[in-house]
Amino acid sequence: MDVALAAQWLRASEPVAIPTETVYGLAGNALDVAAVARIFEVKNRPTFDPLIVHVANVAAVEAHVLDFPAAARRLAAHFWPGPLTLLLPKQPHIPDLVTAGLPRVAIRVPVHPLTRALLESLPFPLAAPSANPFGYISPTTAQHVYDQLNGLIPYIVDGGACEVGVESTIVGWEGEEAVLYRLGGISVEAIESVIGKLRVQPNQSSNPAAPGMLKSHYAPAKPLYLGDLSVLSKQFATQKTGVLSLEKQIDLPAHFLEIVLSETGDLNEAAQHLFAALRQLDTSDIEIIIAAPMPELGLGRAINDRLRRASVQTNSI
Ligand code: TXA
Ligand code: MG
Repeated sequence: MDVALAAQWLRASEPVAIPTETVYGLAGNALDVAAVARIFEVKNRPTFDPLIVHVANVAAVEAHVLDFPAAARRLAAHFWPGPLTLLLPKQPHIPDLVTAGLPRVAIRVPVHPLTRALLESLPFPLAAPSANPFGYISPTTAQHVYDQLNGLIPYIVDGGACEVGVESTIVGWEGEEAVLYRLGGISVEAIESVIGKLRVQPNQSSNPAAPGMLKSHYAPAKPLYLGDLSVLSKQFATQKTGVLSLEKQIDLPAHFLEIVLSETGDLNEAAQHLFAALRQLDTSDIEIIIAAPMPELGLGRAINDRLRRASVQTNSI
């Protein structure tokens, strides 16, 4: 019984890896400072980078926030359970370690049935960052978690491959204005169809309100260049080069290793495969990775955001 065993460890303040629809999370009792501290320790994560709190349903959110404005309720009604995180003013019982001392808590209701069953069985919410060492690519399978955290955590709940593949979209309010702080599994277009125009500001690496938006993040160990593949493939023609693209490229040197993210050019499917593809290239014997930007629409924007942060910083799209 995966869920019952996971619950036992979590009640004992130990971190457990859990599946969500976005990426695997490294969960701990969000109300227990010792459990939260273990998460930071295992991930080697700086404590200025706050954690997302996961709850079983919308009703459970009420218990942890001081205010749940109408626009936030509309988004919750549309997208929860799902890959959307809301920043709402926190109640005092949410430890400062969870929010890095910030007045708002990031909170969401995940979709995955095992994790929902787990949350329903526990008397506390779960703080969970992505289950990767800080700065590396997020895990989208239990094997990814095992490869990096084996020996550091007592238990991984295996819920299969994540369906969305990129992290949740983060939305909060500054006064009346809705602000999107992280591009993710719910597209900008989908959010705007519910609450109207919002400010998209995902790149504020210096902004302590969203410290997880550090410019260099989600990064493979190998250098990744983002740009026009016909130019990059010539530039790196003599090297062992891995290629990440939405659709099949013609005219690549035969020794290149190409990963096509979606045979049909579907951006949702591409998002689903993105992190596994990056890991595959990073662990193969290639020397560098070249990647093509996706169309800037739907989940293409979240994919481009991750590729930009993973890339050699002189390159931009
Ligand atoms: O899809 C997801 O959101 C996954 C799964 C496991 O739920 N979680 C995830 O967590 O991506 P993490 O820790 O890798 O990214 C969370 C980011 C932080 O880096 C930070 O930018 C933002 O959420 N965040 C969390 N709490 C915040 C707060 N109180 N104020 C501002 N930003 C916050
Ligand atoms: Mg993360």
